[in-house]
Amino acid sequence: MPIYLPPLSRRQFLARTLAAGAGLALFRSRLLAATRDQDPHAWALISDPHIAADRAKMARGINMAGQLTIVVQDVLSQPRRPAAALINGDLAFNSGETADYGTFTALVEPLRGARIPLQLALGNHDHRERFWAALNNDKSIVRPLEDRQIAILPAARANWFMLDSLDKTLSTPGLIGEAQLAWLAQSLDARKDKPALVMLHHNPSLAPGKVSIIDEAALFEVLRPRRHVQAYFFGHSHRWSVTRDPSGLHLINLPTTAYPFDAAQPIGWVMAQLQPRGMRLNLRCVDTKRADHDQKIDLEWRS
Ligand SMILES: [Fe+2]
Repeated sequence: MPIYLPPLSRRQFLARTLAAGAGLALFRSRLLAATRDQDPHAWALISDPHIAADRAKMARGINMAGQLTIVVQDVLSQPRRPAAALINGDLAFNSGETADYGTFTALVEPLRGARIPLQLALGNHDHRERFWAALNNDKSIVRPLEDRQIAILPAARANWFMLDSLDKTLSTPGLIGEAQLAWLAQSLDARKDKPALVMLHHNPSLAPGKVSIIDEAALFEVLRPRRHVQAYFFGHSHRWSVTRDPSGLHLINLPTTAYPFDAAQPIGWVMAQLQPRGMRLNLRCVDTKRADHDQKIDLEWRS
């Protein structure tokens, strides 16, 4: 499964906050967020933070740690706490170094301190074994497949299926693999009572001759005919877009919290609000002066 980081108790969070030299003011702001009601239908979706061990690290003119800190603060400032934050891979800056994961977990710890659990997936800039080792003391992990991080997150109005498309660190294309595809098909078939929302790091290419996921055709053969599969969430391309494939499946490209490859693209995160027959997506930008900051897009489920 994706690594699950459970919420911290107040005592744990206070101890860690003070140990980090962050002080009581920071602790109080997290405590305020923690006392807000939880919205069981709201999910904070974060992708491609690219955190280096050194918090001062810059790439493409962007300080990634600073941006993720702004995003974490924005999640905490929402009127109601989301059920969880799902972080969709490329957690580490480039090659998934152990120390990168130490800084990453410290930066997202305020979410846990505010009683928001985290579900983490991996991308092509992560390293699976170093990630597992770095989070060994914190993680709660049950893996349906021994060598992949996959999970089903049941919610009142849908089931989330978090997949693992990391093939090789620093090799751009993703791979789902036969075992994971078989597990996915079986797991989807066993849960037809609710909409299924699938999240994985790599984007679909949807174009002949372009390879983003090596076995993309096999993945879509699993997703498209199962009409309760409603949406495929991905990152990897550092873009924000909401489209549909020819079968009506919603394709949601989550923005990066780090650096976009196209300067016109937003940096931020998305709050997904599950509704009885669809979902509302709310784009939250680091640059709150952007025209698309706080954009809301309503999706209807395919029948
Ligand atoms: Fe990325």
